[in-house]
Amino acid sequence: MCGIVGYIGHRDAYPIIIEGLKRLEYRGYDSAGIALYDGTNLNVTKTKGKVTDLECRIEKEITTNGTVGIGHTRWATHGIPNDVNAHPHYSNSGNLVIVHNGIIENYESLKKELIKRGYSFTSDTDTEILINLIQDVKQKENVMLRKAVQIALNQIVGTYAIAVFDKNKPNEIVVAKLGSPLTIGIGEDEFFIASDATPFLEHTNNAIYLEDGEMAIIRRHKNIKIRKIKDDSLVNPYVQELQLNLEQIEKGDYDHFMLKEIFEQPHAIKDTFRGRLKTEKGIIKMAGVDDNLEKFLNANKIIIIACGTSWHAGLVSEYIFENIARIPVEVEYASEFRYRNPVINQNDIVIAISQSGETADTLAAIKLAKSRGVFVFGICNVVGSSIARETHAGAYTHAGPEIGVASTKAFTTQITVLTLIALKLAKAKRTISNSDYHHHLSELELIPKKVEKALLSDSHIKTIAHIYKDVRNFLYLGRGYNFPVALEGALKLKEISYIHAEGYPAAEMKHGPIALIDENMPIVVIAIKKGHYDKIVSNIREIKSRKGKIIGIVTEGDTIVKELADYVIEVPDTIESLTPLLTTIPLQLLSYHIAVMLDKNIDQPRNLAKSVTVE
Ligand code: AGP
Repeated sequence: MCGIVGYIGHRDAYPIIIEGLKRLEYRGYDSAGIALYDGTNLNVTKTKGKVTDLECRIEKEITTNGTVGIGHTRWATHGIPNDVNAHPHYSNSGNLVIVHNGIIENYESLKKELIKRGYSFTSDTDTEILINLIQDVKQKENVMLRKAVQIALNQIVGTYAIAVFDKNKPNEIVVAKLGSPLTIGIGEDEFFIASDATPFLEHTNNAIYLEDGEMAIIRRHKNIKIRKIKDDSLVNPYVQELQLNLEQIEKGDYDHFMLKEIFEQPHAIKDTFRGRLKTEKGIIKMAGVDDNLEKFLNANKIIIIACGTSWHAGLVSEYIFENIARIPVEVEYASEFRYRNPVINQNDIVIAISQSGETADTLAAIKLAKSRGVFVFGICNVVGSSIARETHAGAYTHAGPEIGVASTKAFTTQITVLTLIALKLAKAKRTISNSDYHHHLSELELIPKKVEKALLSDSHIKTIAHIYKDVRNFLYLGRGYNFPVALEGALKLKEISYIHAEGYPAAEMKHGPIALIDENMPIVVIAIKKGHYDKIVSNIREIKSRKGKIIGIVTEGDTIVKELADYVIEVPDTIESLTPLLTTIPLQLLSYHIAVMLDKNIDQPRNLAKSVTVE
């Protein structure tokens, strides 16, 4: 997963591409590069490191003239992050240059063929194979660039979003997409190319989202031509008006996107239920569910597929669906599900959860489920993403862009959507009493205010972070609805502070992890006054008698845990099924502050990328 940017028009391409790459760094940030054509020369600069490292190198190395160019920010798949493996990649002739997001699976056999034909390679990347394959086709078949790209792509197994430039045809960029996102911004006599629309938001509001299997020929002063890669047939371009604004993709007064996104949660949750939750009328409106209500109501079982934080949201919903709608639920890692031979019945339904809507494993799991003939419902944040398009129906979370690599508002808004669905089904199935149903709706409506209140503990959490920032291990414990929150809290800490952390169901502790506990081990225990509160208090006593340090996440006004714990962080009271929306807030803030104190890169943690579009 990488970010690609391109420009062709009447302005200097360099600042547009560099600023665009900075916006796409959430997609990968281990190396970056740019190719600019200045009217005579094709100037390529690339470097290991971030886009700011690229900027420094460019200032020393090349002229930044030119009104056409392509750029790339990388998350390494084939070949370590270094200058040579960074994109753009040249063809052997030195005329063609490419940037690529995706993976070419049959690159080894293609490479052997090309070596036999006299080609040589400087990098370890699959992308360099592709650009030489395009060159080879172009020469062998004596065809123009777009035809050579089309023929070459038909020999490729894998995924790609590419932009290709030919020095001998400097008024044209050819782009293509299969499995990785690609958007074209349409300006006044200028075109922008990017993995998502954020790089060109300040320049135009009009964009074409290329579909899988499509390529576009973008020519200066001409209309865009879109063709099917398979058979070269023409496709009518569909220009959409973007619904994003600049403020949504900028940090504003916050130090990091992650912090901004944590604090956006009251608003984001409200946006998730806006227009859907009609508390006074006792109605939940969700077109994707309403249109397929029979399928939901007849479901033998719901299979939830997702990865990472989205998988944790799925786990929370398992409790909600089973408790209030009485539908059995299985929550599966998409990466495991896709390679199993899962038992799926015609009456089962699959719910796929993904913030980005681009996660390769989730996409593959959806395709497997569809091939078994079941209904697949998607819950995504990114509008028009691959998963949103691949599923039969779905609901957006409407959380707004999430740029910090560590998911925060995605988690709480996914739980909100899942809760709305569960409540809707429970009402239709009459598995919830009327009064309980109405109580749930009014409590859900109060959640944004309660999240705001939970956020007020920020400076107290900072103090606790300071005390524990230097430990090497953390344990997170929770029960029932809050067991997945413990997993999510541990994931947040690992991701951004690189401290080892594990989440466990509190009662499982005595089956192993208890051996880890000593006076140096901090244990975050979600101990709200709901469900099995007494049991969790006993777990806390067990930890204390082994000298572990307790950070309790407790219900406002709690006195029992307060006496036992070393520190407590209060969250407002609500009904049990909604507690994860509140208990997760202090855990996000705790990881954030620890990572800031350890001077870690909050929004771009090492080795990670926002959307994992490779296996
Ligand atoms: C969470 O903080 C992660 N960075 C990661 O686990 C993420 O949730 C996972 O890769 C799934 O992404 P998706 O929701 O975009 O599919």
